[in-house]
Amino acid sequence: MATLSAVSCFLSLLFIALLVQLSNGAYNNVVSFGAKPDGKTDATQAFLKAWASACSSAGASTIYIPKGRFLLKATVFRGPCKSRITVQIDGTLVAPLDYRALGNSGYWILFIQVNRVAVYGGTLDAKGAGFWACRKSGKNCPVGARSITFNWANNIVISGLTSINSQLSHLVINSCNNVEVRNVKLIAPDQSPNTDGIHVQTSTGVTIQGSTLQTGDDCISIGPGTKNLLIRNIKCGPGHGVSIGSLGKEVNEAGVQNVTVTNAVFSGSDNGVRIKSWARPSNGFVRNILFQNIVMNNVDNPIIIDQNYCPDNQGCPTQGSGVKISGVTYRNIKGTSATPEGVTFDCSPSTPCRGIRLEDIKLTYMNKAATASCKNAGGSSSGILVPDSCL
Ligand SMILES: *[C@@H]1O[C@H](CO)[C@@H](O)[C@H](O)[C@H]1NC(C)=O
Repeated sequence: MATLSAVSCFLSLLFIALLVQLSNGAYNNVVSFGAKPDGKTDATQAFLKAWASACSSAGASTIYIPKGRFLLKATVFRGPCKSRITVQIDGTLVAPLDYRALGNSGYWILFIQVNRVAVYGGTLDAKGAGFWACRKSGKNCPVGARSITFNWANNIVISGLTSINSQLSHLVINSCNNVEVRNVKLIAPDQSPNTDGIHVQTSTGVTIQGSTLQTGDDCISIGPGTKNLLIRNIKCGPGHGVSIGSLGKEVNEAGVQNVTVTNAVFSGSDNGVRIKSWARPSNGFVRNILFQNIVMNNVDNPIIIDQNYCPDNQGCPTQGSGVKISGVTYRNIKGTSATPEGVTFDCSPSTPCRGIRLEDIKLTYMNKAATASCKNAGGSSSGILVPDSCL
């Protein structure tokens, strides 16, 4: 009898030890790696240790960041990892108060070469005010940091994240496949320079939905090499709107194709839906784009294609953009323009826009029809058209 109970006791101890071992790989609370939720103690090493543990875990694992404020310096979470990782954030990650601490790295939180990573919840506060002030004063400032970046990452979910006061862009998706961004809130003051909400480039299969973007620059900017991007149920403004571009800065540049923006509300933004390219030679292109079911509230340029981007009139030798824009549909776009001109197609004289389509547009300015202007733009229109189509 005594032997039997000793054996069963030994076996249950073994079982418990096994469970503990498994959960060590699987569940990584940053506090148990030494992070302090006081907003003052540098938690960077603790976060990196939690990442190393999760990343080397053979089974799926979780990194848990509990309530509280965690001070984080510029940090790289590098893959590839052995299995899927969930980062559950209940707390707030704060950057160092001195903007120079992040300012020269270009990034704050950077995920590289990861696959199957999901980030749920959390607040990021990059404390960008000092950096914006430096930029505005015209002093010599560091390059600045994006708040959260995914480079060469696949199968990513970012859900329920709030980001405030980014130095530059809040969220950057670069060279990624299959990324889902949902219910994020990205907020920076109207006058903060270059604080884009989300920047997507060289990426395929990105979906952005149910999000609120209040920024000093583009709510969403879409760079070269973006394919199969879906944006729906977003609120944008203040900010510069949803922008495809700037494109065509380089002679050899990947195009943008199959982008849909649907069920969006723009309020008080500089632009609604914009396509923008440099007035420079380029083999870039924009095609198969759909903007539909959009409400504009007091937007400066609700619908705009601008192929004459050339800040300070420098570096644009031909004054014509080589970027070929074709197959762009605007459907069911209604509301108010904050300027007389509601529809602007200012296309390249050397590479005119083709296949622009307007369907059911109603844009007013001070209770009267807004106006439309077309340069080097061709296409068709149907349905209700206020202003009258200039195509
Ligand atoms: C266009 O992108 C959507 C995702 O927004 C995707 O479902 C669809 O298959 C793509 N179409 C083509 C022709 O690639």
